[in-house]
Amino acid sequence: MLRDTLKTLLSAWGPSGSEHNVQVTIKEMLHGHVDNMRTDVLGNLIVEKFGVDDNAKRIMISAHMDHIGLIVTAIEKEGFLRVSNVGGIGMKQSEFRHVVFENGVEGVLCSQPLEGDGKAVIKDLFIDIGAADADEARGMVQVGDMAVYSPDIFTLGKHRIAAPAMDNRCACALLVELLMYAEDQKNTIIGVFSTQEEVGLRGASVAAYAVNPDIGLGLDVTAWGDTPGTKIPDIKLGAGPAVKIKDNSMIATPLVRDALFEAALEADVAVQREVLPFGGTDGAAIQHTRGGIPAGTLSIPCRYVHSACEMIDMRDMDGALKVLLHFVNIVE
Ligand code: CO
Ligand code: ZN
Repeated sequence: MLRDTLKTLLSAWGPSGSEHNVQVTIKEMLHGHVDNMRTDVLGNLIVEKFGVDDNAKRIMISAHMDHIGLIVTAIEKEGFLRVSNVGGIGMKQSEFRHVVFENGVEGVLCSQPLEGDGKAVIKDLFIDIGAADADEARGMVQVGDMAVYSPDIFTLGKHRIAAPAMDNRCACALLVELLMYAEDQKNTIIGVFSTQEEVGLRGASVAAYAVNPDIGLGLDVTAWGDTPGTKIPDIKLGAGPAVKIKDNSMIATPLVRDALFEAALEADVAVQREVLPFGGTDGAAIQHTRGGIPAGTLSIPCRYVHSACEMIDMRDMDGALKVLLHFVNIVE
């Protein structure tokens, strides 16, 4: 079940560069469902499920495993941890947040403006782990350790789920289920569960070069335009997955973009057209490797991206899975 797969993946601790818990969980889920699995130097998990067609194309589908976090830069004499952001952490989303380190140490992320007009910026953030002084703190965490928003996963109404790691575990869940349920599909699926997307598409960049696919697809969340005062992007939760036309990192290759629209039509799934005036995905890393690879991105609408309450609608997830099952058969 997509919902169960998602919840399991949301619970795994894994900021950029420390995705191993997510990787192990996915490996266990896919055991017996794919033809081969390997990992590379950057920690990408690369799995293949062969297509049956004699002229099967090799389609790389990438979903990043990492999510945003904080990294300890220094420990102060009072026992507070100075931190820096790993990926796109916003100040507004970071005040008085429950955070957790890999070893289970918990803390409150706070800020106190150090200078200027009293407006806090990222360098003013610190984590209070309840230590009385630096010595006690050093016994709990070290400089270089990372923390993430505590994995509070909750359901809203019938269809919606919120959690801190929704970007991008929802796409990991989709890719896992695609690899489980695709059967005798025409093309070969090369599923890449990538690392370090949030710090610059790093995992997908090396994976795309190594895999050298015929066609590429990124799976990721996109932003929302359906809460008070927001209109752009023109994306609503529950109105279907979104086919990316453009964001800051890529203009989708027409061949791939149109195959997604065709797959949606075949699958009888409503899709939205996505023009995002910011952001980027693994789709761009694939498109821009070597001499250029035709690539696009299928997006899951997500409210409050990069907060501790990233929210999606499971109807968009179900629709996306159907679109993907058709896509791997029709794209060429
Ligand atoms: Co993100
Ligand atoms: Zn993402």
